Amino acid sequence: MFCSSKNTWLLSISLIFCMVCASNAREAPSFRVKAVNLGGWLVTEGWIKPSLFDGIPNKDFLDGTQLQFKSVTTGKYLAAELGGGSIIVANRTSPSGWETFTVWRLNEKAFQLRVFQKQFVGLDSNGKGKGVLAVANSPGVSETFEIVKKPDDSKRVRIRAANGLFLQAKTEELVTADYADGNTKWGDDDPSVFVFAIARKLEGEFQVTNGYGPLKAPQVMREHWKSFIVESDFKFISENGLNTVRIPVGWWIASDPVPPKPYVGGSLAALDNAFLWAKKYGVKIIIDLHAAPGSQNGWEHSASRDGSIEWGKTDEIIKQTVAVIDFLASRYAKEPSLYAVELINEPLSPGVSLDAVNKYYKAGYDAVRRHSATAFVIFSNRLGPMDPTELFPLASGLSGTVIDVHYYNLFTEEFDNLTVQQNIDFVNTNRSAQLNLVTTANGPLTFVGEWVAEWNVKDATKEHYQRFAKAQLEVYGRATFGWAYWTLRNVNQHWSLEWMIKNGYIKL
Ligand SMILES: *[C@@H]1O[C@H](CO)[C@@H](O)[C@H](O)[C@H]1NC(C)=O
Ligand SMILES: *[C@@H]1O[C@H](CO)[C@@H](O)[C@H](O)[C@H]1NC(C)=O
Ligand SMILES: *[C@@H]1O[C@H](CO)[C@@H](O)[C@H](O)[C@H]1NC(C)=O
Repeated sequence: MFCSSKNTWLLSISLIFCMVCASNAREAPSFRVKAVNLGGWLVTEGWIKPSLFDGIPNKDFLDGTQLQFKSVTTGKYLAAELGGGSIIVANRTSPSGWETFTVWRLNEKAFQLRVFQKQFVGLDSNGKGKGVLAVANSPGVSETFEIVKKPDDSKRVRIRAANGLFLQAKTEELVTADYADGNTKWGDDDPSVFVFAIARKLEGEFQVTNGYGPLKAPQVMREHWKSFIVESDFKFISENGLNTVRIPVGWWIASDPVPPKPYVGGSLAALDNAFLWAKKYGVKIIIDLHAAPGSQNGWEHSASRDGSIEWGKTDEIIKQTVAVIDFLASRYAKEPSLYAVELINEPLSPGVSLDAVNKYYKAGYDAVRRHSATAFVIFSNRLGPMDPTELFPLASGLSGTVIDVHYYNLFTEEFDNLTVQQNIDFVNTNRSAQLNLVTTANGPLTFVGEWVAEWNVKDATKEHYQRFAKAQLEVYGRATFGWAYWTLRNVNQHWSLEWMIKNGYIKL
């Protein structure tokens, strides 16, 4: 191309340059991520390492535990009448939403109980009365209870209110906090005795740190961080056909060493170590913001306190999250191992709106680009009801973007009764089609950021697992950015890629 004036010449050069950039950004890189997630390390998940919770005192009652109480005298369940905003009754025959009380833990002895409509159980007359209501939107002293267990494992409890007296089911329709007898025999005639059942537990970072409390949690978590993932894991990864790790982190890492309570400092030093080891063994790193402030999906792996989703509801919380990304990008942009930043993991529809993720992804993308021109920026598709291409309008206009999809043959009914072959066919047919749908010539790259060779098939043999893993590797190998197995280490064998490799189930 010949140009008459110098200015036009420069303009043309930059145009060509830009076209080259743009086409490079859109072309699938020849390098494909073959990654493993380091799940359960810097963001706690109890099912990955249950022993982490062993030392917590009174661990039946952790934040987010859903309790149901059956009065031994009425034989009926305690309920928040209308699900909240009214009185507490003891007249319900079967437990469901209104009969469920979600724990907020203050310490091993003091608890607050949140009802279906999110109010807290408390005493009337500003805590001076003996009537029991569920009207307070934020809990105070009169919404605080001690749950006294019968000293055996019978699941019998009494609930002592802030006035020092026990709750009692006087009648089915009258629950009061005025039972004084401290010397109960725990018999079926004592109206202050309830049998409790646990309907759900959460075992995430909030639960483990708040469960141990401010004195023990730092010690327990630091021990976990320095022993659960170590340098030799990076050696193992580099020697077994993997080239990348996806590291889930929580938002509190950005305020290390003194994060807001109950979180404890030290996870940042662990992440620093990961970068050292990654450099040494030639492994790339994807930083994945797995737990965003307020929780983006209500699950334990986003550090939800009680199952609620608060993330994305205000501009403030989005700004706070962008600041976390800014912090991480600025800290690690110069590291040769930094390959990508995933802005948030699994925001859940409809609790998190498309509007909120779009706004956040744009601002989060800009935050990464302020520090790095080359790191890929990964947008996790929402889970729940959504269109899998809903992020395309935004992602297609930005270079170096990736859409993350998670494929598990689990968690929904459609997989309940599938045979070995049906599971494999589902991968070959349905997953292929789903992946094709999000893999486009001019759109973002695609990443299967979580998958596992586990299913609902009972009594599957080693050979079955091998075939299932192989089918997934083949299909997910077509993702233009790559894939990541969930997870490196897990007490559940098939969820541990280390175990799967060492035992010959998966070969890369
Ligand atoms: C339980 O008691 C409340 C309060 O008197 C009443 O409004 C409600 O209808 C009762 N529910 C049942 C299932 O009996
Ligand atoms: C799976 O099988 C069980 C037992 O036969 C049956 O009750 C259930 O409805 C089946 N689930 C689905 C989704 O087909
Ligand atoms: C999987 O794909 C096949 C073929 O397109 C289709 O018939 C089947 O309904 C799909 N299965 C599910 C569970 O979506």
